Amino acid sequence: MSDAPVLEAPPAIEMTAGEERSANRLTLLWVIPLVILFPTFILLGMTLRARQSELLPIVSAERFYSIVTMHGLGMVGLWFVAVMACVCDVIRKYVRLRMWANWVAFLGTVTGVTMLLASTMIGEYGAGWYFLYPLSITPAGVWPDWSTYVFLLANGVLGVVWTIWSADVLWGIAQRYTLKEALGWHYVTGKPGPEVPPFITIVTVSLIANLTGLVSAVIMLALYALELTGITDVSDALLMKNLLFLFGHLLVNIIMYLAAGLVYDVYPLYAGRPWKNSRWTAGAWNLVLVFIIIAYFHHLYMDFAQYDTVQLIGQVTSYAVAIPSAVVSIYGTLALTWRSRVRWTMTSIMMYLGMMGWCVGGIGALIDSTIAFNTKFHNTLWVPAHFHTYFLVGAVLMILGTVFHACEHLSGIPENPKRSRLAIWLIVAGGYGFVLMFYLGGAFSIPRRYAFYQHEVISSGTYLAGTALVFITVVLAGVFLYIWETGIRCLVALKKV
Ligand code: HEM
Repeated sequence: MSDAPVLEAPPAIEMTAGEERSANRLTLLWVIPLVILFPTFILLGMTLRARQSELLPIVSAERFYSIVTMHGLGMVGLWFVAVMACVCDVIRKYVRLRMWANWVAFLGTVTGVTMLLASTMIGEYGAGWYFLYPLSITPAGVWPDWSTYVFLLANGVLGVVWTIWSADVLWGIAQRYTLKEALGWHYVTGKPGPEVPPFITIVTVSLIANLTGLVSAVIMLALYALELTGITDVSDALLMKNLLFLFGHLLVNIIMYLAAGLVYDVYPLYAGRPWKNSRWTAGAWNLVLVFIIIAYFHHLYMDFAQYDTVQLIGQVTSYAVAIPSAVVSIYGTLALTWRSRVRWTMTSIMMYLGMMGWCVGGIGALIDSTIAFNTKFHNTLWVPAHFHTYFLVGAVLMILGTVFHACEHLSGIPENPKRSRLAIWLIVAGGYGFVLMFYLGGAFSIPRRYAFYQHEVISSGTYLAGTALVFITVVLAGVFLYIWETGIRCLVALKKV
């Protein structure tokens, strides 16, 4: 018998059979780039660690930085589109979306990623995933000019299609709920109002923040265009850094929030209890909306030209944004699990462990956002340590759980519990071992983004990088097993729909 969820409520939005079929087909199509690009980008990350461990000295420093750029931007982009595809799949039961917006996002993403691959892997563009100005347009002969243009254009294409996609989801929500209702203000004030699933509140908060970040990216790209076409001589480096981090910080956090939102909606199907909106849940997520936009200041602590007050705001809001949302989400997951007969499957285990990974990585991030610690940890391996934790063993698990949920449901092929559990434990055990080597590197003050560690003070970095390779191999084994299990179901489902 299929292990597919049995508690699914009837959809509030009626779709025709044709609409349903094409929406399902597109959800399944999104799975294909996911299962191709995830292991590819892991292999790129593995190459970086192999270079740092001196096992792959053939990789030049220039090639190392182009790989860092592709791996970083590729992973962030991949998990943004993956979480958005999952959100669109889940939200269809509450609101009506336009299929063309999802198609524009799909085709635009394929185009943008192809351009990124060309600029980094062929053109060796290597300014890093957040391409800080002026390095981003000052190659000093390391990469050709064309790769700068292709890289910036790729970001432009991705920015435009993701804006359309995010705006469409918000538009769909606005057709059913007023802004106040979607944000759950009636829960906070205690006034009467319609029942709004917490998932809707989280998606609304996240996508409003996302549009803010995308506008910031558009302004930044326009400033690049003015400079590259000779209309302006030079841009203000501090302004460019603020615009970049407003965008980058929001994008990364939104992936996390949307992934948590999926847990609010999908995990209850396995726990057998509903996850209702409440004063605390709506209140916490509204705080996120207020503070997420200014918390990015914590990325600029080292910029002495930034006002001290702004730095202080960065520290206070980092706590204000992280604690309420994480507490209600983790508490909610535990409350749903406590004394309930959870059906432990690939999806529910991944979601549960993903929430815990968010908690672990979040604590690492909060430590780093505290000015007193940041003076020690800034640009050490502590930084990739915390964000790889809340991604790889946090958001990624939640998203993979949702993808499996959809593929299992649409294919009708029941789960193989042995293979599922093996895949999960390989990813989780390998993942924690891999990030532990980053944390230890941070604790030993080993700088991040070094192609190799030759100085004797940081030679332990070489050893940690080599040990990380063992854990990465374990993660890869788990990822391939996951892809096997999900891929088969995806292909069968594609034939059915
Ligand atoms: C097993 C999987 C992964 C491996 C082996 C891996 C490996 C690495 C390595 C070695 C670095 C460079 C660290 C340094 O600064 O010295 C890096 C950077 C990075 N990784 Fe990963 N990673 C993995 C998964 C992920 C995931 C799931 C994400 C999701 C967003 C991600 C996003 C990034 C980003 C944004 C950077 C920073 C790039 C930059 O500094 O410009 N990685 N990764």
